[in-house]
Amino acid sequence: MFSERLLFYVLLLPFFGLLSLGAPAPGPEPSLSELIARQTVDTSQHCGQWDIVTAGPYTMFLDLWGAAGATSGSQCSQITSVSGSTIAWKTTWTWVGGNGVKSFSNIQLNEGINKQLSQIKSMPSTWKWSQNTSGSVVADVAYDLFTSNTAGGSNVNEIMIWLANFNAGPISAVYNSDGTPQAVASNVSIAGHTWNLYTGSNGANNVFSFLPTSGTIMSFGGDLLPFFTYLTQHNGVSTSQYLVTAQAGTEPTSGSATLTTSAYSLVIN
Ligand SMILES: *[C@@H]1O[C@H](CO)[C@@H](O)[C@H](O)[C@H]1NC(C)=O
Ligand SMILES: *[C@@H]1O[C@H](CO)[C@@H](O)[C@H](O)[C@H]1NC(C)=O
Repeated sequence: MFSERLLFYVLLLPFFGLLSLGAPAPGPEPSLSELIARQTVDTSQHCGQWDIVTAGPYTMFLDLWGAAGATSGSQCSQITSVSGSTIAWKTTWTWVGGNGVKSFSNIQLNEGINKQLSQIKSMPSTWKWSQNTSGSVVADVAYDLFTSNTAGGSNVNEIMIWLANFNAGPISAVYNSDGTPQAVASNVSIAGHTWNLYTGSNGANNVFSFLPTSGTIMSFGGDLLPFFTYLTQHNGVSTSQYLVTAQAGTEPTSGSATLTTSAYSLVIN
């Protein structure tokens, strides 16, 4: 009996390091697998402007950075599962008023970043999602990646890969006479899809946005590295740049929607 009880505490210690060996066990003893499951993932809903939840190799950011630009609105996000390098999550938002982006609720990869582009061998990713909307929405669903001159340094280039454009538009330095952004490259084939590339500045750094030439990509599977290779070969991005941030999420401006990601993964090799 004594040794069983001792074993129980030894198993518990990594999870509850503060638990004293002398304390009585409260209530029924949970199984080890139950303890691990409770420990690993916070699947509760978060609605705070800057809330974050870390799970496995990822952090979910609420990042409601532009909320003050709305006349009303709110957004809540939650991780629904994490298994290895695959995460599922969802975000529900309603934003009214204001012309600007209200938020970028996203999943950030924490492992394998801060490598120079020349040192990255591949960036396999999958992203399966669906979106329920009510009425008309203005939003994108996109990867958002940043490079810097140094590991962990300030942003120099922002690389966006849009999987969906719901009545929104990329940052562009040049516009057509009809007011639509003018692509700097058209019909670029990468990762099994065809893209138009737009370039401009967000005021702080260069922005390169790849948008699908048509439709939305609700089941993406491919290597993200060729997007960077395209920019180093054609658009003056240096291979000595460090990939400092790799995020994927949605930038809503207005409307109401639930974006459900059933599976997202990104690995940097
Ligand atoms: C979308 O809305 C339908 C009908 O209300 C609902 O059954 C479904 O679960 C919703 N899906 C998502 C991804 O929110
Ligand atoms: C891109 O491809 C489409 C479809 O094949 C074609 O109509 C269009 O002219 C192409 N655009 C450019 C700039 O080559």
